[in-house]
Amino acid sequence: MNVGVVGLGAMGAGIAQLSIEAGVDTIGREVTLELAKRAEGRIAHFLTRKVEKGQIDAGARDGALARLTLTTELSDLAGCDLVIEAIVEDLGAKHALLRELEQICRPDAVLATNTSALSVTEIASAISTPERVVGMHFFNPAPLMRLVEIVRAELTSDAAFDTAYAFGEKLGKHPIRCHDTPGFVVNRVLIPLLNDCVRVLDESRVTPEDLDAGMKFGAGWPMGPCELLDLVGLDVHVHASEALYEKTREPRMAPPPRLVAMRNAGLLGRKSGRGFYTY
Ligand code: 3HC
Repeated sequence: MNVGVVGLGAMGAGIAQLSIEAGVDTIGREVTLELAKRAEGRIAHFLTRKVEKGQIDAGARDGALARLTLTTELSDLAGCDLVIEAIVEDLGAKHALLRELEQICRPDAVLATNTSALSVTEIASAISTPERVVGMHFFNPAPLMRLVEIVRAELTSDAAFDTAYAFGEKLGKHPIRCHDTPGFVVNRVLIPLLNDCVRVLDESRVTPEDLDAGMKFGAGWPMGPCELLDLVGLDVHVHASEALYEKTREPRMAPPPRLVAMRNAGLLGRKSGRGFYTY
């Protein structure tokens, strides 16, 4: 099996890492070789940490890294059985990408999207073979989070759906099946919940540290909501909130003004060095 991953940001690099660790020849595409190399460096770093911690041996790391090919040319994905896109969450950009992939890839190749807040059906509508498009929604950090949502769009074929589900299993994930509704399963719950947490910050004048302690030690969360927002990225969260609010019109989906202001000020969390916390 040959897999292509388009976009090697945090999510795409994590998906590519999972794929090569699962023994799959994987081709990662970025817009510049420098960005691709940076992602490869991050993957190598995480695999080396696994070696240092005795989780894998050096041979397994080197074997995995040898299965990763980098490219800037989409045409290099022509031989892929499955292509997973993890590019910017912009419908126009995803449409343009799918149109190109439809020209390049074999007719039976499955095209998966890692979108978290856009409609898979809308994404698929750009091409004349929408039945090959399916959602594969991974969670951040993809190598560590066990879940992948396999999302059936209106026209997704059983074959495409089954391919995505089987690949999720091959990666060692716990796939769940769902339909293409706003936020799918987890974000439908998690996004308004995180927004509520931020509203509580303002209402109860608790500190981020204490709110995080509250949810970790009082509700068993693995990390507090402020830590989690910093991990996900405030830009990503605000964008997803806005997209879900637009679709559902539920007030809790709308991003709280405090988060929008932080996003606008560039306080994006870990990726910018500062969010609720300083890194
Ligand atoms: N990629 C690969 N490996 C990574 C990694 C990454 N991004 N980040 C960390 N690792 C590796 C590191 O090597 C690390 O070991 P090291 O620190 O010794 O080098 C190793 O994983 C383990 O890390 P931790 O010891 O920090 O692991 P924890 O046991 O503390 O768990 C966690 C970390 C899994 C992130 C846990 O805190 C957790 O489950 N947090 C909640 C995360 C969550 O809810 N994510 C979902 C966000 S919502 C989302 O993604 C939806 C989207 O649509 C917005």
